[in-house]
Amino acid sequence: MNKLVATDIFKAFKTGAYHAQVLSDISIDIIQGETIGIIGSSGSGKTTLLQILAGLEFPDSGEIFFNDINLSINNAKQFSIMRNKLFGYTYQFHYLLDDLTVFENCNLVFQISNSKDINKNSKKIFETLHELGIDKLQNNYPYMLSGGERQRVAIARAIVHEPMFILMDEPTGNLDHENADVIQDLTIKLAKDHNIGIMVATHDLNYAQKLDKVFRIENGGLVSK
Ligand SMILES: Nc1ncnc2c1ncn2[C@@H]1O[C@H](COP(=O)(O)OP(=O)(O)O)[C@@H](O)[C@H]1O
Ligand SMILES: [Mg+2]
Repeated sequence: MNKLVATDIFKAFKTGAYHAQVLSDISIDIIQGETIGIIGSSGSGKTTLLQILAGLEFPDSGEIFFNDINLSINNAKQFSIMRNKLFGYTYQFHYLLDDLTVFENCNLVFQISNSKDINKNSKKIFETLHELGIDKLQNNYPYMLSGGERQRVAIARAIVHEPMFILMDEPTGNLDHENADVIQDLTIKLAKDHNIGIMVATHDLNYAQKLDKVFRIENGGLVSK
């Protein structure tokens, strides 16, 4: 079973004389197919932890491993090589590009990874949109979509390339109760159906309790719930 492991992660942000220790000695791991929730008050470091796990932010010390491969060495060269295979990422604010259709937003992932098999990629996008119940919206632009639909597109974009892990930053943070519930169940179903490890930062305790494991960031440390 493939595993992503973070060991002894420390991270501080320094702005001028101000030094904020955000993460202090955090270790966590996730295997494929597992769903993990990261909770904690606003500013506690949830986003920072997800960014570090994806290699989008670098810790002051500590390392990230994929199985036995240390992703953090050689200026994170391994991260660049393996990021696309390993990760999908959804942001709190959906970050769809307004000038691109739903289909084109999803196709960006393949363009970035220089994947040129257009037929295969298109088929995969259609299948994914269908699975998420938004295939009829493929030619629509983001402004034409509801909040819940946009979040589904963001999730589709995170999984079309079949990553092993998805890191989700407050995927239901801006949705009403009903839509949040649907997205929560959808993400959990995706994890189980596709054997994807999902780590989700959330404020929503209702979401957290549906996940396999939950940790709270408290004073920079990780507490198991
Ligand atoms: N790039 C940055 N520069 C300076 N401070 C930052 C930066 N990113 C995050 N922080 C600070 O780190 C702390 C944790 O932020 P964040 O990880 O976004 O928390 P959360 O996602 O739990 O709300 C906050 O105090 C935030 O202001
Ligand atoms: Mg955050």
